[in-house]
Amino acid sequence: GAPVEVDISNIEPGQRLVVAWRGKPTWVLKRTPEMLASLPKVDPNLLDPECKQDQQPDYIKGEARAIKPEILVLVGVCTHLGCSPGFRPDHPAPDIDPNWQGGFYCPCHGSKFDLSGRVYKGVPAPLNLVVPPYHFDGDTKVVIG
Ligand code: FES
Repeated sequence: GAPVEVDISNIEPGQRLVVAWRGKPTWVLKRTPEMLASLPKVDPNLLDPECKQDQQPDYIKGEARAIKPEILVLVGVCTHLGCSPGFRPDHPAPDIDPNWQGGFYCPCHGSKFDLSGRVYKGVPAPLNLVVPPYHFDGDTKVVIG
């Protein structure tokens, strides 16, 4: 499939855009400093916090799982059976998890992911959400694929 260009010049901090890439919902989230600060807090609750399984390009490293930490790009498809998780940046959210710091929640069977798409322990999804290949074109454009 063709690469998809996403204009990120008007995206607000905390806002998520949804685009289609290879027929899949694909997210571009501009994370706030608070969102980035939440990532280490949830490490103990995650199945694979260091992303040792292969769900991201080699150039994606660290808990932010991003080239520029504030811009997260993820394929929005649950690694359990393929539903699209909802964006739940609010916290706390006791209906999801008593320690919820914001993230993505799959309504189909309750899988939980943090604000880097890393999966929580004890949910049906076996893997972190996928980071697709992407790069920046200047400061205002992300090219996915
Ligand atoms: Fe997401 Fe089953 S498809 S939890």
